This record gives sequence, structure tokens and C-alpha cells, in this order.
Amino acid sequence: MKIIHFNEIDSTNAYLIREHASLDNMTICEADFQSAGKGREDRVWLSKRYANVMFSILIKDKELIDKYAALSVITGLLVRNYIASYEIDNVTVKWPNDVYVNDKKICGILLQGQIPNYLVIGVGINVNQTEFEGDYRKTPTSVLLETNRIIDLRRFKKGLYIYIDEQLDLFKRGLYEPLNEIRKYNYLKGKETDLGKVVDINFDYSLKVETKEGIKDVSTGEIKEK
Ligand code: BTN
Repeated sequence: MKIIHFNEIDSTNAYLIREHASLDNMTICEADFQSAGKGREDRVWLSKRYANVMFSILIKDKELIDKYAALSVITGLLVRNYIASYEIDNVTVKWPNDVYVNDKKICGILLQGQIPNYLVIGVGINVNQTEFEGDYRKTPTSVLLETNRIIDLRRFKKGLYIYIDEQLDLFKRGLYEPLNEIRKYNYLKGKETDLGKVVDINFDYSLKVETKEGIKDVSTGEIKEK
């Protein structure tokens, strides 16, 4: 695992996309500040300088790329577990790519790339930020707001990178099967959404939704709560 650090960059996802050909599998790009941080659905990802954690992981390993449908939700679960280890309760994964504490968003994940060549998993976690300006669809929170403790970002990142690296490797080799954990921490379970009522998560990590036309399996896209 190689880590490339920037004090400032446009977007860590954009950097890995630009440079993917010359970089190794599992290269991590991190930044203290992004001038053009990307969110999903063409939104921006705003994050104060030196306050939070922003990084992207380059995946070039074919076996992991083949499992791309699961990667976003598994990364969400790993971030969930890591955040919960800071003694925060009610941390859940909003399928397929956000981490919530109670009803507030603490982390967003953006998967980009070119299947089957490479994937970039971008992760933004609110850690030491306490004030959020602008319009947010979901109220943001941070590790500091939830724990009343200022977090040592260097330690936080180091532990998180090692954890993600190890668990993704085990998952690739079929030695880590997170489905039950993901089902347990499924924020949307039982909730009414724009597509219908969420029943569960399927074996292939798609979402099982009860619609007017019957049960449907949803494998991509953003689900909006009612
Ligand atoms: C979302 O919730 O809409 C996804 C947000 C993803 C933000 C991260 S921060 C690191 C990486 N670089 C980016 O430009 N975006 C992702």
C-alpha cells in the first residue's frame, strides 16, 4: 500500500483517474484540502482544510474489480466499523455508499473508474469539522461532534488504511464475508423510499425493495428516503 499525500489537490479521485496507468494497485491518494471535491450525482464535496479525512484508493486487481457491485457497500461497512470503534453508537451504512450516525451523515463514498480496467473508491469522512455551511440534503455530523474529542487525524488515517487494506484483501480471497454485518447495519431496512419499502440486502449486495409491482432487486443508484 503506497500513500501519496497532497496538501491541496483538485480531487483525490480525479488524481487517481488521471494517473491510474502509472500507479500500482491499492495506491492511496490523500489530501488536506480539495479545491474541486466531487460528490455523487454531480454534487460537490466540501470539506474544511486540515479538519477531515479525504482519500481515494486505486483498485487494479481484477478479482476485486469483478466484485465491484459489492465494493461500495463493503467500504461503507469498513468505515462504519472503524468509526464505531471510536465509541460512537448507532453508526449504520446507507446502501450503497454513505455512513450515518443516527440520522446524520458522517461519510460519503464515490466509486468511479473504468470497468474492467480500474476502479477508484473515494472516501470523505467528517472528523474534526464542527460547522457545516451550505445546503446539505442530509444534516452532516463528525467524529468530534459525536464524541466531543478532537481526533488525531494522522492516527485515524493510519489505522483506517491498514484496516481497509487488510479486509479488502481477505474479501478478495473469499476469507471475509461481510453480508451479515451489512444486513445488521442497514440504515434503510424497513424504511419507505422513493422505490418502495426496503426489505433487506441480497446475497449479491443488491437491495431488496417491496414495490407496488412486487419485490424488486435494485443494484445501483441513489435511494431517497420518504
Ligand atoms: C457523496 O456523498 O456524494 C460522495 C462524496 C465522496 C467524497 C470523497 S472525498 C475524497 C474523494 N475525492 C473526491 O473528489 N470525492 C471523494
